[in-house]
Amino acid sequence: MPAEAAVRSAFAARFGRAPEGVWAAPGRVNLIGEHTDYNDGFVFPLAIDRRVTVVAARRLDDLLRILSLEKGLTEVPLSGLQPGAVEGWAAYVAGAVWSLAQEGVRVGGLDLVLTSDVPVGSGLSSSAAVECSTLLAARDLYGGPQDPIQLARIAQRAENEMVGVPCGIMDQTASMACTAGHVLLLDTRSLTTRQIPFDLARAGLSLLVIDTRVSHALADGAYAERRGVCQQAARLLGIPALRDATEAMLEASRDRLGELHYRRARHVVRENGRVLEVVRVLNLGQPDRIGPTLTASHASLRDDYQVSAAELDLAVETATTAGALGARMTGAGFGGCALALVPAGATGTVAEAITRTFADRRLQAPTVFPVAPVDGASRLP
Ligand code: GLA
Repeated sequence: MPAEAAVRSAFAARFGRAPEGVWAAPGRVNLIGEHTDYNDGFVFPLAIDRRVTVVAARRLDDLLRILSLEKGLTEVPLSGLQPGAVEGWAAYVAGAVWSLAQEGVRVGGLDLVLTSDVPVGSGLSSSAAVECSTLLAARDLYGGPQDPIQLARIAQRAENEMVGVPCGIMDQTASMACTAGHVLLLDTRSLTTRQIPFDLARAGLSLLVIDTRVSHALADGAYAERRGVCQQAARLLGIPALRDATEAMLEASRDRLGELHYRRARHVVRENGRVLEVVRVLNLGQPDRIGPTLTASHASLRDDYQVSAAELDLAVETATTAGALGARMTGAGFGGCALALVPAGATGTVAEAITRTFADRRLQAPTVFPVAPVDGASRLP
């Protein structure tokens, strides 16, 4: 059954009435610009054709009843919502409602049913898709801001404070503000955006996602540790954020920084440069020429930033050897997904090479699927 029909019928069956509307928000892949968003830098994600679909209706009391088709039912009174009060998946939903209320919106109770086909724990931002779809529903039913960037910040606050994950602003902005056929250039300092055309079909290209199904633990400390090191490096350099650093500055302060901080900072500085380089080349209408920059990003995440995993390195190496123009891990790392830019005629060869190589090494079978840029979160008609 299509997602929308499934959530509608589950809503009627569970709550005995019809919902007031249906909303959807997509997951994302980040084309390039990794671990730059919490350094005031540039990111370049696209929304993908995997989404969370939610139906909702207001209640007269202050209860939040949340039914996930995948995870089951949770009930929380709005009056009891505060950081740490809700555990597990429901915290993303409750967090979005709580965060909207923090903006001064008088949010009342809600019945919600949601379903997701964004793989969980794969670095495709299933959590941002839950937050953004719920937030749009609550906003449309109870009021609140229209601006997608402001909404992304509200969704990010849900994740930072209610779920307790110190993520940057990329995922929620991608889920809210991407447009079909484009990659979203976001300057995370000014929060200004530009939609850059990315017509894969016209260029005879395909963007493959390789989900290694090795699960990363974003909340487990490594992400927060990298964030802390970047802040310390900026402090040692006497600048507000690594966005303001240059390679010359890093060289001049190499001793003061120490090798670890130097290498982490070098990744950030170079990665920001790579984002702008990819944007430049796409603006020239040459998507077939961004491959080497994608692969250079992977090497930097593997060697300088050290957030890759053996499975991701293998996926990238196998894809490029089998004909991909470029490949890299995408998302926070420590497992999850890689992406590969592949000539459309070579997708079968690349996918087979990956499947075979992982099987030969007796690794868990990855899933490989093409993605193309779709629109961000919206209310469905
Ligand atoms: C996760 C976070 C993002 C970003 C990436 C790394 O997806 O949620 O904010 O920091 O990792 O680029």
